Amino acid sequence: MYYKSCQWVNRGIEFRTDSLRLCCYGYLQGRETEYQTTIKENYHGELLDWNEIFRFKEQQKDMHKKGRYLDACKDCIYLFEKDWDDDNYINHFTFNHWTKCNCGCIYCYTKDNKKAFNSYKEYPLYPIIKDMFKKGVIKHTEESCIIFGGGEPTILHEFDKLINLFLDKGCKNIRINSSGIKYSKSIEKGLKSGAISLVISTDAGCSETYEKIKQVKAYKKVWENIRKYAKAQSKDNLLKVKFILFPGVNDNYEEINKWFDEVVKNDVKAVSLSVEQDWYNTHQPEFTPEIYEQISYMENKAKELNLDMEIYCEALAVLREHKA
Ligand SMILES: C[S@@+](CC[C@H](N)C(=O)[O-])C[C@H]1O[C@@H](n2cnc3c(N)ncnc32)[C@H](O)[C@@H]1O
Ligand code: SF4
Ligand code: SF4
Repeated sequence: MYYKSCQWVNRGIEFRTDSLRLCCYGYLQGRETEYQTTIKENYHGELLDWNEIFRFKEQQKDMHKKGRYLDACKDCIYLFEKDWDDDNYINHFTFNHWTKCNCGCIYCYTKDNKKAFNSYKEYPLYPIIKDMFKKGVIKHTEESCIIFGGGEPTILHEFDKLINLFLDKGCKNIRINSSGIKYSKSIEKGLKSGAISLVISTDAGCSETYEKIKQVKAYKKVWENIRKYAKAQSKDNLLKVKFILFPGVNDNYEEINKWFDEVVKNDVKAVSLSVEQDWYNTHQPEFTPEIYEQISYMENKAKELNLDMEIYCEALAVLREHKA
């Protein structure tokens, strides 16, 4: 049936540290009602009753068919019209079931209580995913996507096992965000086959700024790992190195130019540009001329260097506001 809905209501699931949700986008869009997309509270890795989950999804689909939406979903940017099938299956995953990391970014949501976030134990997910494959709950389509957020994925105990399971089952479009500090052979395998895309946010063009932002001494190691991933990828845009513009911290042209030098030197062909979320939230909808100029400068510089550039929605909003 043709109606306005989203992939996550139809086929998605987000594993959180203590619950199951339809998606993480209510949270990322800053909606106070995001709890409405909860499928199961108090979830810590138990085997799942899929009939119950699909019943929850069917209620949501029925609402969407009538043009009604939860407050958490109203005007969500992920809603779109198409001819949705009525089958029950999962092909969109977000893994956010752990918070431990090998880095200490000063902008991270874990920054105020790093010790606690690093001490939470992840629940085992491998048996759940295996059970989903066994029960035929997972179905592959061209639209499938598997996203690793977190925490740092490469230090998850089950990371290689999970990635290899998805790769062995022929899954594609596995998107991983990583600090890049620990090199992963399973990421390398997925970059070679073209099933994995990887984003590493370095945010700096020298070790001094890197250490100020990341609170760890790993600048050289990260760029070495980036170079290895760049060499392994079978397509130029599978690996993206990101720069999060953080006013007052790394928003100067010297830093930006040095970052582009590292990108080119290490054989990276695609980059991402973002704006620090808290800064963005406290400044929107009006931004400084400086940040607009820096974003424009980076956009042009990427073009000059023949680099693919992905611009995150916050940076796009800055460009839009200044063009308006
Ligand atoms: C929370 S991290 C977890 C994955 C991984 N540890 C990493 O940093 O890539 C997920 C993504 O959010 C981005 N991110 C985290 N905090 C941010 C902030 N305050 N502003 C903008 N992006 C942020 C990171 O760069 C990363 O790409
Ligand atoms: S409409 Fe948006 S917030 Fe609601 S389930 Fe879909 S992606 Fe998530
Ligand atoms: S690498 Fe990712 S999870 Fe770790 S501190 Fe930085 S943003 Fe947070």
